[in-house]
Amino acid sequence: MTILVTGGAGFIGSNFVLDWLEATNETVINLDKLTYAGNLQNLASLAGDARHVFVHGDFGDAALVNHLLATHQPRAVVNFAAESHVDRSIHGPADFINTNIVGTFNLLESVRAYWGALESGAKAAFRFLHVSTDEVYGSLAKTEAAFTEEHKYEPNSPYSASKAASDHLVRAYHHTYGLPVLTTNCSNNYGPFHFPEKLIPLMIVNAQAGKPLPVYGDGQQIRDWLYVKDHCRAIRRVLEAGTLGEVYNVGGWNEKPNLDIVHTVCALLDELKPRADGKPYKDQITYVTDRPGHDRRYAIDARKIEQQLGWKPAETFETGIRKTVQWYLDNPAWVANVQSGGYKDWVNKQYGS
Ligand code: NAD
Ligand code: DAU
Repeated sequence: MTILVTGGAGFIGSNFVLDWLEATNETVINLDKLTYAGNLQNLASLAGDARHVFVHGDFGDAALVNHLLATHQPRAVVNFAAESHVDRSIHGPADFINTNIVGTFNLLESVRAYWGALESGAKAAFRFLHVSTDEVYGSLAKTEAAFTEEHKYEPNSPYSASKAASDHLVRAYHHTYGLPVLTTNCSNNYGPFHFPEKLIPLMIVNAQAGKPLPVYGDGQQIRDWLYVKDHCRAIRRVLEAGTLGEVYNVGGWNEKPNLDIVHTVCALLDELKPRADGKPYKDQITYVTDRPGHDRRYAIDARKIEQQLGWKPAETFETGIRKTVQWYLDNPAWVANVQSGGYKDWVNKQYGS
């Protein structure tokens, strides 16, 4: 048995591939374009493992994807590949439209042709799982109920609009062609291999480098944080037992204002790697111009996946964030590697010198 994963060299995709091969013996074909966000170092522990087949390429390349499907005959496709950073989507939306919308469309077309030609048993067993985000639902007011799967779509950034479009395409392929799809909409992930353009790894990395810790606006925007390995387990569970055509919201009931997150990271670093001058890392916090169109609050109502599929997060925020900070302290070579090349250009563009 084999599955095809797209975007499996990115943050969540690589955690998923590692988790999958820890939990099962099923081969993973990992198709990744290796954009700035893809990193084969994340998968270094799989060197020599015949169950992991890495293919460098674009998930929207029909000839390549058709070839991979025909050759490996996967029983499922799990689609992680995307442009994922909201701030980058504000500076340059085109890549988000091309990858998240057109790329997903091309993938769906290849998968539809492959699935349509399968014999009846394989056809009935096949699954296409699309990994999406809570950002498609837009922003919540402080007292509003958390997002359920029925919440209206109201994406506010080019990133979330492109993910929303991809979700609609996936839904339409089920409704129109009967393609056996599943969609997961997850909240903010954190954990190992998180690229340091996103809030938590950026704070850990900047703090140690003695750089400012840039908090957008008043820092009171709320996100709902989930340890990445819990997300990976949720995807495995939905693939195994989810009802075809259904959507599952995934989250950890862990709403926190950004400023609290930054203070928690600073306090952990004070404990695990104190500053040479004995001062607290929180002295490095700097308030900067807010993100345009910044969503104020996200919160996931995860009752459906908990009650119907029996999934629950294993980590609390306290255990997960401690593991995460420790992982970054233990892996300076990984951090140095991802900070080379285009990383500096991005930081200058977003935060100035
Ligand atoms: P990421 O940016 O870390 O990784 C994306 C990966 O996709 C990279 O390895 C990149 O090389 C690859 N990729 C990009 N374009 C490609 C293409 N055309 N063909 C093949 N590969 C391509 O993203 P992530 O944070 O790991 O997110 C993975 C998925 O999960 C995305 O679809 C994202 O929308 C979704 N998601 C992310 C979060 C989060 O908190 N990070 C939360 C919910 C959902
Ligand atoms: O909610 C799920 C989404 O979470 C995913 O779909 C996205 O792919 C993922 O990137 C993430 O989006 P966010 O925009 O929430 O994540 P980010 O880490 O960029 O920002 C988290 C919060 O922190 C957000 O309110 C903006 C703020 N922030 C971010 C950065 C990079 C800052 O205050 N300062 C910063 O320098």
